[in-house]
Amino acid sequence: MRMVVLGLGYLGATHAACMAELGHEVLGVEVIPEKRDSLARGEVPFYEPGLPELLKKHIDSGQLQVSGSYAEAADFADVFFIAVGTPQKKGEYSADLQYVDAALEELVPLLTHDALILGKSTVPVGTAARLADRADELAKDVSIEIAWNPEFLREGFAIQDTLHPDRLVLGAFQGGVAETVSREIYSSLLDAGIPFIVTDPPTAELVKTSANAFLATKISFINAIAEVCDAAGADVRAIANAIGYDARIGRRFLNAGLGFGGGCLPKDIRAFMARAGELGAAEALSFLREVDSVNMRRRTRMVELAREVCGGSLLGKRAAILGAAFKPESDDVRDSPALNVAGQIQLQGASVSVYDPKAMENSRRIFPTLDYATGALKACEGADVVLILTEWQEFIELDPVKTGQVVRKPNIIDGRMCLEAERWEDAGWAYRT
Ligand code: UDX
Repeated sequence: MRMVVLGLGYLGATHAACMAELGHEVLGVEVIPEKRDSLARGEVPFYEPGLPELLKKHIDSGQLQVSGSYAEAADFADVFFIAVGTPQKKGEYSADLQYVDAALEELVPLLTHDALILGKSTVPVGTAARLADRADELAKDVSIEIAWNPEFLREGFAIQDTLHPDRLVLGAFQGGVAETVSREIYSSLLDAGIPFIVTDPPTAELVKTSANAFLATKISFINAIAEVCDAAGADVRAIANAIGYDARIGRRFLNAGLGFGGGCLPKDIRAFMARAGELGAAEALSFLREVDSVNMRRRTRMVELAREVCGGSLLGKRAAILGAAFKPESDDVRDSPALNVAGQIQLQGASVSVYDPKAMENSRRIFPTLDYATGALKACEGADVVLILTEWQEFIELDPVKTGQVVRKPNIIDGRMCLEAERWEDAGWAYRT
């Protein structure tokens, strides 16, 4: 089937390449020229394992094309995916829908045939209905159907999550073709037995926000327990393991530490609260404010811990920060807890040396005042404290003896509770979490 993907960021580029992999003929539209040019050459302008190979394969075969032209897109197909970003509004909790709105405003007047627009971006409940009304106003003698088909992919596992999702969700208005067309698009996944939930648009929109709110709550739950463990001298990792055996609870997303960041969970729970407020249901989600506060407290606590380890003041001290991406296997530094902590430590007078295997360029761009090292050991040279803030395998495998030879003081803070404490303690380190 021929289809268009509007927006080629983490979500759109992955979706476009995966749709080509499913055998469809895909045109991806990206309005930022540098991104577009790099994608058209088969190069991915961000780090996502496996995506460069998949993209290159389908660019080379012609199955996937990249364009900057909405006019070309309008003629190319009658199925369109919206995969543009929905960041948090500046100074507000709600989602900024300007890119979603712009995609619709630009596309629909150019359509000379009936079309189905499937939204993939994470949007506040009610967006599909609003866009459907707007599409009716913009359409010139054609019929435009809007439906929502949310995406649940995790960065770092984006291809796996798109080609082998836990479930597919479609929110369609009555009487349209969205379900039939979606069944055709995803036929090989449906044949493989992937559950397909067909519902109405507000429910589909809420499935996505509820999933992210639940995941954020799970992480903040274990981090709240970690706070109690600190006070009581108990081991939160053992608690996570023990309660995780209960199938009703499950061990995944119970890793305590520096908490969640990235381009999704933090802004999605805030947008969810803001939307519930608009709908008069603010009280129902008031617990999410606490989920957010527990999460933000993890960052402050990490800075306090570094100060404590450095003898009460960070002034004139040297801190090695290992990890800048919001999680491993990603170069994404949007709302990265690691960079946030690095910045706060520097503000308190320490000199900070940051190293991350993939996120150096992005970090430098948003945080040019930090010092960046060329390797983990380089970052640790002369350090009074080493902080592991993203659990990259490279850091988990660091040699405590070799690292001990380059630092000034053998203090390590395991911000992701990912190291084997004993290995470090045996090598003479003071290990804290
Ligand atoms: C998330 C959702 O998982 C995905 O379904 C949705 O589509 C987009 O948002 P992503 O942001 O890529 O995906 O990362 P995820 O793996 O969910 O991790 C989010 C954050 O939580 C990271 O900062 C990670 O370090 C943190 N985290 C995760 C924890 O602190 N503890 C955990 O146990 C798990």
